[in-house]
Amino acid sequence: MSDVESLIAELEALQDEALEAVERAQDEEAVEAVRIAFLGRKDGRISGVLRGLGGLEPTDRPRVGQEANRIKQALEKRIEEVDAALAAAREAGDAPDLTLPGRTPRVGGAHPVSRAMDEIWSIFRTLGFTRARGPEVETEWHNFEALNTPLDHPAADEQDTLYLEGGGLLRSHTSPVQIRTMLSHEPPIRILAPGWVHRRDTYDATHTPSFLQIEGLVVDEGVTFVDFKATLAEFARRYWGEGTKIRLRPSFFPFTEPSAEVDVKRVVDGPDGPVETDWLEIMGAGMVDPNVLEAAEIDPDRYSGFAFGMGPARIAMLKYGVSDLRTFFESDIRFLSQFGGVR
Ligand code: PHE
Repeated sequence: MSDVESLIAELEALQDEALEAVERAQDEEAVEAVRIAFLGRKDGRISGVLRGLGGLEPTDRPRVGQEANRIKQALEKRIEEVDAALAAAREAGDAPDLTLPGRTPRVGGAHPVSRAMDEIWSIFRTLGFTRARGPEVETEWHNFEALNTPLDHPAADEQDTLYLEGGGLLRSHTSPVQIRTMLSHEPPIRILAPGWVHRRDTYDATHTPSFLQIEGLVVDEGVTFVDFKATLAEFARRYWGEGTKIRLRPSFFPFTEPSAEVDVKRVVDGPDGPVETDWLEIMGAGMVDPNVLEAAEIDPDRYSGFAFGMGPARIAMLKYGVSDLRTFFESDIRFLSQFGGVR
């Protein structure tokens, strides 16, 4: 083979190699690397071959030169095309793909305990109750003494109640709101008082040191045990459905006489039709002790009343079949989303 032939064959082989490399390039940088490797002025492999032109007969030079230019141009053209295609693909990749399915935003929902509170409130509201509130930092007098609970009562013990340095305590129940309401309002009184209460308790499946309570108080002339029982029975039917029964179990609270634990028995769907549940305890309650009316400057010979206190978290546990109170505090979205609202 003459020198001319072998130079041209070398150039053609380089062209094939370069084209192959261009087709394999994944991005514009890779294309640029191929361009430099083959067409670069200084170290490009094609330029290197052309440097050998000087060793040819002057009559042979134009032929090889022409061939070399043809190859360079073809290669440059292909490099430009591939480069443009890769740039277009990159830009398309950066732009939003309008054909992708949309992301549905999560819709928040009320916490199951908040829901129970709202439902309980909306029932008592239709029964003529209004809302009342009291402070979480209380005096011993409002939290215990005015509620007919002497300070040597076990409930007032430091084992159970969180006392504050410099006096006062964190209320251990919402019952002090009874006292504050009676001191600031004349009967008739019909209030519901929701709020946080605090006790020295362990944190386990059925206890938390801070929890919500809802207090109820009715005081008027001629309020009897029948009003008491009928009001709670009506609440239970509206909250748990027709067919729900209540039972009053004798109990003791210093501020009510007589006192009772209120249990409900619900009717739920069973495999072969409706079945009754066991009795479930839902609240403490009773007729307001005359000593309490007196402490709150209400004449016990003229007025009587009843009071009750319940834990909405416990009510939500019973309603939704939740067995561990702590799940209400841990804000796990997988748990909370089961109660609706959150998708
Ligand atoms: N305060 C009581 C408790 O926390 C509940 C209660 C309220 C009982 C009102 C009777 C009347 O356990």
